[in-house]
Amino acid sequence: MFGRRSGEDIVVGLDIGTSKICVVVAEKNENGEIKIIGSGIRPSHGLRKGLVVNVESTVESIIEAVADAEKMSKTEIHSVYASITGSHIKSINSRGSTAITSRDGVVTDSDIKRVIDKACEISLPAGKDVIHSLPQEYLLDGQDGIKNPKGMVGNQLDVNVYIIAGSVASERNIVKAIANAGFEVEGLVVQSLASSMVALKQEERDSGVLLIDMGGGTTDIIVFIDGLVRHSEVISIGGDHVTNDISIGLRVSIPIAERIKRKHACALKSMVGRDEEFFVEGAIGKDKIRMSRKKLAEIVEMRMEEAFGIIKKRVERYEGLLSSGVVLTGGCCNLPGVQELAKSRLKLAVKIGKPLEVSGLAEILDSPVSTTCVGLVKFGFIYGSELKYFSFSPINLLKKVFSYGSSLLRRKIFYKKEG
Ligand SMILES: Nc1ncnc2c1ncn2[C@@H]1O[C@H](COP(=O)(O)OP(=O)(O)OP(=O)(O)O)[C@@H](O)[C@H]1O
Ligand SMILES: [Mg+2]
Repeated sequence: MFGRRSGEDIVVGLDIGTSKICVVVAEKNENGEIKIIGSGIRPSHGLRKGLVVNVESTVESIIEAVADAEKMSKTEIHSVYASITGSHIKSINSRGSTAITSRDGVVTDSDIKRVIDKACEISLPAGKDVIHSLPQEYLLDGQDGIKNPKGMVGNQLDVNVYIIAGSVASERNIVKAIANAGFEVEGLVVQSLASSMVALKQEERDSGVLLIDMGGGTTDIIVFIDGLVRHSEVISIGGDHVTNDISIGLRVSIPIAERIKRKHACALKSMVGRDEEFFVEGAIGKDKIRMSRKKLAEIVEMRMEEAFGIIKKRVERYEGLLSSGVVLTGGCCNLPGVQELAKSRLKLAVKIGKPLEVSGLAEILDSPVSTTCVGLVKFGFIYGSELKYFSFSPINLLKKVFSYGSSLLRRKIFYKKEG
């Protein structure tokens, strides 16, 4: 049908969100930079709080969004990197330990792989599976702080790994929906991690930063300190809760509440004048009525404040360590006043994150709702399908090291299209 196929040179991201399904097709240009050559965005109907609850509706949206992206990029899409979120995603620190097996005691790639595997052998609660394992630091015969032990000499290698795990059932539902739509999953990437791939600079990750991705059904947070992931969490509050509150507070239907939110809402009531008004058609039992923008802002602020209150509690332990402040992504960034509200509640500098060092379609790069999806393609380009093992160190040795491995192979088979 089209001249090109997705694969090594062309990577496709599929962000399955509660509000929208987003597809981004990207290639690497002659300078090795990622360039977006096509996209498709369709409303999402089969998810709740980030989880697939209706496979059929999700399949439909995926097919439509992929078709749009194929047409625009003139590419036949076969496989995708897909996002995963939901409150089932949990993180845990784990330690692995192994003896160095070579006769001269030099640490090799296989020692590194083995020690990370050991760290992943922790007993997770039933029904949970490791999505990512991020090596934090290595210890060689007790000497800590080692970023890359390859080539060093010792007897015993230990590693501290940050493991992000999720529910197998949720993973399967995403994979099933994508397979039923006719595509293979190259790998699943946690949404906040995907967003961080393009919205954060290395200096920010090094000096300490909190990324908050506020979507429709969830708010996903991730903390980087000293270049490493220290915390990640999914909070079950998103823009849809704000829409719901508006629907109840102003007694309008959900679609009207959503329209009102996008057109008239502000996240900080102090930014709205007491006498500012707007008109709404179709409010229950009435034709057209006048409404107070201040009241609308009060409703919005209350819910957003709840979300930032929860985040504040979760990141309290990192006080003084987040020198680069907060980067906001996701659809809720479009709400006027959200940056100011976040700043006043979290007491940190706040900026809106945009995909960095990526070129191509401006409508994708300028929209905070597409950041996760652009992050997925960057992830795909950098780490290929070695999703379980990677580090954020600039010299990404692990990419090379873990281009094999039984767990990886099992994963690929598991993701192959069903039926
Ligand atoms: N212009 C706007 N003004 C206010 N809110 C907006 C605007 N545009 C989008 N939103 C809100 O952003 C939310 C959707 O954001 P996003 O597309 O990032 O979510 P998602 O990725 O589909 O969901 P999730 O990540 O939670 O599963 C919705 O609640 C929507 O109402
Ligand atoms: Mg999202």
